[in-house]
Amino acid sequence: MAVEEGFGERIFKRRISLGELQEYTASPATVAEDILSEHGVILLPKGTHLASLVSSVEDLEKNMRRWGIFSIPIVIYNKLDIRELEEILQTAEANISTIDPALAKETLAQVGDVYERIAEGAQGPEDISKLANQGQRLAAEVAHSPQVMFCLGKVRSWDEYTYMHSLNVALLGGFLASRMFPGRQDLVECLSVGGILHDLGKARIPQEVLNKPGKLTDDEFAIMKQHPVLGEQLAIESGVSDARILAVVRRHHERFGGGGYPDALLKEQIPVEAKIAAVADVFDALTAKRVYKEPMESRSAVSIMIESMGAHFDPEVVRILLVSIGLYPPGTAVELSDGSIGVVVGSRNKDLVRPQVLIKIDYMGRKLDKMQIVDLSAGTSLCVRRTLMDIGKVRF
Ligand SMILES: [Fe+2]
Repeated sequence: MAVEEGFGERIFKRRISLGELQEYTASPATVAEDILSEHGVILLPKGTHLASLVSSVEDLEKNMRRWGIFSIPIVIYNKLDIRELEEILQTAEANISTIDPALAKETLAQVGDVYERIAEGAQGPEDISKLANQGQRLAAEVAHSPQVMFCLGKVRSWDEYTYMHSLNVALLGGFLASRMFPGRQDLVECLSVGGILHDLGKARIPQEVLNKPGKLTDDEFAIMKQHPVLGEQLAIESGVSDARILAVVRRHHERFGGGGYPDALLKEQIPVEAKIAAVADVFDALTAKRVYKEPMESRSAVSIMIESMGAHFDPEVVRILLVSIGLYPPGTAVELSDGSIGVVVGSRNKDLVRPQVLIKIDYMGRKLDKMQIVDLSAGTSLCVRRTLMDIGKVRF
């Protein structure tokens, strides 16, 4: 099968037997080249729609055989624009497991409340401990989840982004901890609670610095860099005493190879909880949909993380991230080797290159309404030919 392409245009050429013709009644396929009789008379002109041919010509198969024609070269030309692809991704969302939406909504509202109260100087110890409880509920959710899970949603303002980012760092951090240290629910809780609280100090950073659209000046960056320490102080004042949770808050901007802030620690000096949080923090930031930027595809974000291994991140944590989300994270639109298009909804057996794909456009170019999930790890010869785009987030 030959393929010619540009993004959004897919041209598949293949030869089908007469017995397969009936399958193409709803396909946009056309005859790929003039089909001539032995005397050079055109029997089927190039460009004839297979669907109309099958429905309008009686005894087509029989006639073709009589003419000595036993197979037909066809071409499937599909124009797939970005909007259509987005629609496909949206319809696939229901098949990708995500965090319980009610829990996500409640968490976002609580984080929002606490940030506002901190900004006004009106927060009490019960506020932050409420968030810590919420983190524990997230940890329970993560513990039951076989895959990475993110909260998705339209984020309009900086505030909304920060709340959702906190939730995602909690979910991803908790998940990475569960993979790195199986059976250690205490660490999952620590990352989930720490993730929710990790940027608490930003509520004390002046809005004009936080919301500045351009690059920060050195002075502004120095202010921004105070947020881990401010966050740790707020957490301690509110009664958070677990040193590991406090380490997530204070040390999530430390760099594995040194040069991070606030303490420029190095490798083993950085607690593992903070190393996990650092990976979750940056990965979510890269793949987030922001007002001013399109989300980066998960695969590109993973590449950046890999490039920064050693200097910025603990290589072991990045390895766990890669193993956890795979090469084709849930939500990635992919084209399979037979030309069908679908969305990755998960993977079994931790198989990085053979995910489960919800097919939305089949190999004949037909849009499918019914559910058809192909598990590429289950003895099929199909494989992923290329990725088209992803939702911008992996989920568990
Ligand atoms: Fe931060």
